[in-house]
Amino acid sequence: MTNIILLGPPGAGKGTQAHKLVAERGMVQLSTGDMLREARTSGTEMGKRVAEVMDRGQLVTDEIVIGLIEEKLDTVKAPGFIFDGFPRTLKQADALGALLERHGQTLGAVIEMKVDDEALVSRITGRFTCGDCGAVYHDVTHPTKVAGVCDACGSTNLKRRADDNEVSLRTRLMEYYKKTSPLVGYYYHAHLLSSIDALASVETVADEIAKVLDKAGK
Ligand code: AP5
Repeated sequence: MTNIILLGPPGAGKGTQAHKLVAERGMVQLSTGDMLREARTSGTEMGKRVAEVMDRGQLVTDEIVIGLIEEKLDTVKAPGFIFDGFPRTLKQADALGALLERHGQTLGAVIEMKVDDEALVSRITGRFTCGDCGAVYHDVTHPTKVAGVCDACGSTNLKRRADDNEVSLRTRLMEYYKKTSPLVGYYYHAHLLSSIDALASVETVADEIAKVLDKAGK
């Protein structure tokens, strides 16, 4: 098994697919978004600053997110990491390469999840997640079987994110195009990039990701 990056705009389905890979392949998901949401509940000054930036839809500083990933790579052992929402800038991509090298590891594939902007609005505004196990749902396309109860773990702690509104999403998309989309060329030139149609159904997207992993011999 190896390490992969899921690269795509907000709502592309990175978290949904990462959860499937964790369940089906035993990989470990490293989501900087989840780590930052945990940090914002800490009540510290740093947590408050992070919350303001996230709610506006802007990117948190490179130093903070690189530090979070560094800490995980130093402490967590895994048969393969899924980097979900990291890296998001060229500086973060360089830092990830250096961190992996320091740990004697490499990247096996970078999967670009391509979507149409308009589809993202309905995906994001309808999303809710389980606050206990992280399962991802949608009001229309993927509701829970029993209203208010997580299918995966039975929790009633279902949540919506503060940045899941149309105004914040527009900023998040601009941040993606300005700062994150250059990573497509960066990883293409590193011969690591595979692009897939993430507008397809969850199962079809999962099949496409499996093909990339299998082709890479993982
Ligand atoms: P983060 O938490 O990483 O959010 P994001 O990248 O905006 O991505 P999302 O979690 O919104 O979407 P997703 O692609 O995971 O989609 P999902 O699977 O949930 O980051 C949040 C914020 O943290 C950033 O704005 C920034 O401020 C900060 N941050 C995080 N990392 C950072 C970094 N590295 N540097 C700086 N700042 C950072 O799916 C969405 C919905 O669509 C769900 O309802 C799902 O059910 C549905 N869906 C999924 N797949 C499909 C499908 N194939 N068909 C139909 N519906 C689908």
